[in-house]
Amino acid sequence: TGAFTYDPGFTSTASCESAITFIDGDAGILLHRGYPIDQLAEHGDFLEVCYLLLYGELPTKAQKDDFDYRVTRHTMVHEQMSRFFTGFRRDAHPMAVMCGVVGALSAFYHDSTDISDPYQRMVASMRLIAKMPTIAAMAYKYHIGQPFIYPKNELNFAANFLHMCFAVPCEEYKINPVLARAMERIFILHADHEQNASTSTVRLAGSSGANPFACIAAGIACLWGPAHGGANEAALNMLGEIGHVDNIPEFIARAKDKNDPFRLMGFGHRVYKNYDPRAKIMQKTAHEVLGELGIKDDPLLDIAMELEKIALTDEYFIEKKLYPNVDFYSGITLKALGFPTTMFTVLFAVARTVGWIAQWKEMIEDPHQKIGRPRQLYTGATERDYVPIAKR
Ligand code: CMC
Repeated sequence: TGAFTYDPGFTSTASCESAITFIDGDAGILLHRGYPIDQLAEHGDFLEVCYLLLYGELPTKAQKDDFDYRVTRHTMVHEQMSRFFTGFRRDAHPMAVMCGVVGALSAFYHDSTDISDPYQRMVASMRLIAKMPTIAAMAYKYHIGQPFIYPKNELNFAANFLHMCFAVPCEEYKINPVLARAMERIFILHADHEQNASTSTVRLAGSSGANPFACIAAGIACLWGPAHGGANEAALNMLGEIGHVDNIPEFIARAKDKNDPFRLMGFGHRVYKNYDPRAKIMQKTAHEVLGELGIKDDPLLDIAMELEKIALTDEYFIEKKLYPNVDFYSGITLKALGFPTTMFTVLFAVARTVGWIAQWKEMIEDPHQKIGRPRQLYTGATERDYVPIAKR
């Protein structure tokens, strides 16, 4: 009943108007505020892209300096939060920890709850962008049993993150500029991707006027799934499971078998029916990182290259327009950078936070904004009378 359009998975429903990100999935084009992703990843830095996503234009030098300062002064988290971590088991998945700790920000920064005030919205945005890497690094350090490392504000966003993850108090940690640049690129490539599942979750949560930190925690929960942000972790696990290039045909056959739930992780995309432009940059970055670290024969990279070659020439994958997506190569790069697979989706969340906030801010500032309230096609029982329990 009800004259509603049935569109499971929202494959043909526009949920909002947005001026932030443009994707032409057939042509393999991704633009942020009109700028191609490859140009941003090649020449931009992450905070510059954050500014662009939030405010619509690339910053001038003065605007950039001011923005960097405003973000950087929020990199520390309330000291009480560090105790919050100890409530978790050490072997908890870091994404589970992220859901809890980021949601808990709403219990620490009460002033940011007044989302009707543009100044408080801005402060909440700065806090989230700045604190996500700190919380992510703390989740990692807690996981491996090392002490938390405080942020170093003279470093840029990506270098500071590597520092908080890999520095230890007993030794000097030197930032490798090639690796820091690769980290920066990974952050830029994942910064926003229009109305994907987690962004739509943030918008829906935010449409009720909920606390912005709680909305971002909702986005993190959605991102965790293997069909979304969890794909980078799943892709690397899959390469490990394949184990050797000789086993690739068996896994390709499984991916094509309709009776086997197995899918090639890191392949396919709801919107891109052409090569994901982010995957091209990620592939190049993976090679740069492996070259810098002197990893010549990485068995997983060999499997990835061969898998890509076979899949791109296979009739099934051609017909269904299944190309490698960004997560296919980001896993290999993150592994080479020294991150365990359980941290991969966490890094995606650090990067996507700005996209979530930019979309949340755009929604809150839209004069036509309404609470998100989808309807349904009811398929249950028709009206009937209550039967007392003794008579059932
Ligand atoms: N391996 C094998 N077959 C596939 C794959 C794959 N990776 N992806 C899609 N197909 C097939 C699917 O079986 C279906 O076949 P049929 O039409 O015969 O039923 C057809 O292609 C269309 O698939 P779909 O699931 O209806 O497409 P979708 O747009 O709903 O799903 C997707 C998109 C990304 C969830 C899916 O391609 C997938 O599960 N890929 C693997 C997971 C992955 O890499 N996800 C990361 C996405 S990119 C980053 C992000 O968004 O977070």
